Amino acid sequence: MPVIRFVREGRDIECYPGENLREVARREGIELYGLKGQLGNCGGCGQCITCFVSVVDDSASDALTARTPVEDNKLRRRPGDWRLACQALVEKSLLVLTRPQVRLANAEARLAAARQAPLPEGPTAWPTPPQSEDAEEGAEEGDVEASDAHPATADDEA
Ligand code: FES
Repeated sequence: MPVIRFVREGRDIECYPGENLREVARREGIELYGLKGQLGNCGGCGQCITCFVSVVDDSASDALTARTPVEDNKLRRRPGDWRLACQALVEKSLLVLTRPQVRLANAEARLAAARQAPLPEGPTAWPTPPQSEDAEEGAEEGDVEASDAHPATADDEA
């Protein structure tokens, strides 16, 4: 599964492929917002422009879903590696700097250290629930129960 390395916080957090970056950060107690965003943000609608993150991993251009039209509009005067966390879905492991508008103490050394430590490639296989011994004993080769089938994905329906 992808790992998000939050450089400012010094934390690696694993998430499912396709999870929303803002939601992962909030779930894990990572502060995305400066004072303005803490006082009032749009709740992830892409309107307040306060959930900036910087993708500080040059090799991770495809780690997040492509910029949305909202981001293209709202970030047109910002650096090219900035994203709105609420608009980005995580597809592969990457390094992010939260609140890139706020100075990062000892930035060069911290960024270098974060880039140097290896990250998993991600995404890897989805976790599967453990199978009971009864199911394994009763199953014969080629048998596929409905509960074992993978659920349909958006790609399957297209
Ligand atoms: S939370 Fe408002 S733009 Fe992301």
